[in-house]
Amino acid sequence: KKPAGAPDPKLARPVGKVGVIGAGLMARQFALLFVRKLKVPVVLTDINQDKLDEALAYIHAEIQAMHDKGRISSDENQRLQALVSGTTNPAAFSDADWVIEAVFEELSVKQDVFANIEQFISEDAILATNTSSLSVNEIGAKLKHPERLVGFHFFNPVAVMPLVEVVNAPHTNEIALATAMDTAKKLGKTAVITTDSPGFVVNRLLARLLGEAMHAVDTGTSFKTVDESVASFGMPMAPFELLDLVGLKVGAHVLDTHHAAFPDRFFRSDNLHKLAEHGSIIVRGRTGKITGYDRGAEAIVKGGTSP
Ligand code: 3HC
Repeated sequence: KKPAGAPDPKLARPVGKVGVIGAGLMARQFALLFVRKLKVPVVLTDINQDKLDEALAYIHAEIQAMHDKGRISSDENQRLQALVSGTTNPAAFSDADWVIEAVFEELSVKQDVFANIEQFISEDAILATNTSSLSVNEIGAKLKHPERLVGFHFFNPVAVMPLVEVVNAPHTNEIALATAMDTAKKLGKTAVITTDSPGFVVNRLLARLLGEAMHAVDTGTSFKTVDESVASFGMPMAPFELLDLVGLKVGAHVLDTHHAAFPDRFFRSDNLHKLAEHGSIIVRGRTGKITGYDRGAEAIVKGGTSP
């Protein structure tokens, strides 16, 4: 049985270089946070060079914007810009102390990515996964040293959401846990230790809300009515605005994982998968302000399906 509570902080390892596996929406946001807060080299890797270039362009532009708004000096701008790099070659992770993954939410993909990366990293490196709702223990199943894998779950938008869930999986050792807690603190986040159960704490609760919202639409309520009701009720973001923020594919995977684990408590939705293929529910104007709901999305859910 694992010891309960927080690990001994003295066990935390220093993080002098960060490796980020993946260059998607979440990966690029937390790569930016790592370089801003830890001020150490951050290297991103992805199998897709175009995605990697896009992520690097995003990070460089965000650092530049911090400078242009007067939040960092010219020297700091140059220093932070130089700390970020990207490569398709995972050998660049050989001297990383902390390697965090945010690739596609598919168990077998994550397992293979970690098994592959383990060949390139040092014995002391800690591995972290930003999975939204999969089992951290199962993600580490193909690792030679699964004890160094810990869950480290950020929330969108990473720059402003204060929480990181640190997932203490059955195989996670105290060093990985202590390093995760210490790193979250240095990133300026509030860290909570969770058990390795579907959706951990926050996504378990959110999946109920988003699943019910999607079920309402599947059974005849409009996107607009659901969103207006929840926004007027006072939540910071309405359900479909939130799904748009996290990505429809990620949202569909989160609902599927919860439905598979607890079919009597969570809805899943075929329509959400169709909407993810379609691309969008929300329409935004040039300034990013929501202007309405996509006609094609409304056509997909018309007379929709119930689980
Ligand atoms: N990226 C970076 N920064 C952002 C941002 C974004 N997408 N959106 C807002 N910000 C920043 C703004 O720049 C501003 O910063 P400043 O004060 O330094 O200028 C600050 O946040 C406040 O911006 P706004 O005045 O526009 O703030 P709002 O009052 O509209 O709040 C919000 C924005 C904080 C994002 C709020 O709408 C909110 O809390 N939404 C809920 C988000 C949420 O629930 N996220 C969790 C999703 S689940 C998830 O990610 C888990 C995954 O596994 C599925």
